Amino acid sequence: MVLDALIKIKNEMDPSLTFRRSCREGICGSCAMNIDGCNGLACLTKIESESSKETTITPLPHMFVIKDLVVDMTNFYNQYKSIEPWLKRKTPASVPGKEILQSKKDRAKLDGMYECILCACCSTSCPSYWWNPESYLGPAALLHANRWISDSRDGYTKERLEAINDEFKLYRCHTILNCARACPKGLNPGKQISHIKQLQK
Ligand code: SF4
Ligand code: SF4
Ligand code: FES
Repeated sequence: MVLDALIKIKNEMDPSLTFRRSCREGICGSCAMNIDGCNGLACLTKIESESSKETTITPLPHMFVIKDLVVDMTNFYNQYKSIEPWLKRKTPASVPGKEILQSKKDRAKLDGMYECILCACCSTSCPSYWWNPESYLGPAALLHANRWISDSRDGYTKERLEAINDEFKLYRCHTILNCARACPKGLNPGKQISHIKQLQK
């Protein structure tokens, strides 16, 4: 994998080379970078063994670079925080101390969203996000907004929709769908954004 090559370079050629990684199995989302023009996870991107072609590796596009392949994720995480990614209830659980149950059908509504690992491959491949990174929430944060809007246990659906019903926060998405192409987990943030827009009508 590309991550193995980076580790080899760091160990044997240049100890100053700086990149993020943790799980090396596509779960932590920290090794996201641009490999030969496509955003992806270094730990899941194979090196073509038959090819002698050079591979070009750059940081995630349109992000401030801290060092080498490490970009500043502060704005991305603040946008995630802004959608309040946790369960909010107006009424307590019917049996105090017990889980709030959900039917299998309602649970299935979260498929395609709960799997997100917040790698930022989608947001940093989205032209709308490139031009308005401060004001447009971007595909990752909006996918998570929809994850909580769609959760049958959450009591703040209306307020969540109102909070993002904004020309910039939501409506900068023009359904270009670069996000779906970039997602290493096979998710489709553009589809989730369309769902939010439908609920706003
Ligand atoms: S569908 Fe929306 S979020 Fe996805 S790349 Fe296009 S503009 Fe960006
Ligand atoms: S939707 Fe996909 S590309 Fe976007 S942050 Fe989540 S896992 Fe990464
Ligand atoms: S090292 Fe965790 S996703 Fe690549």
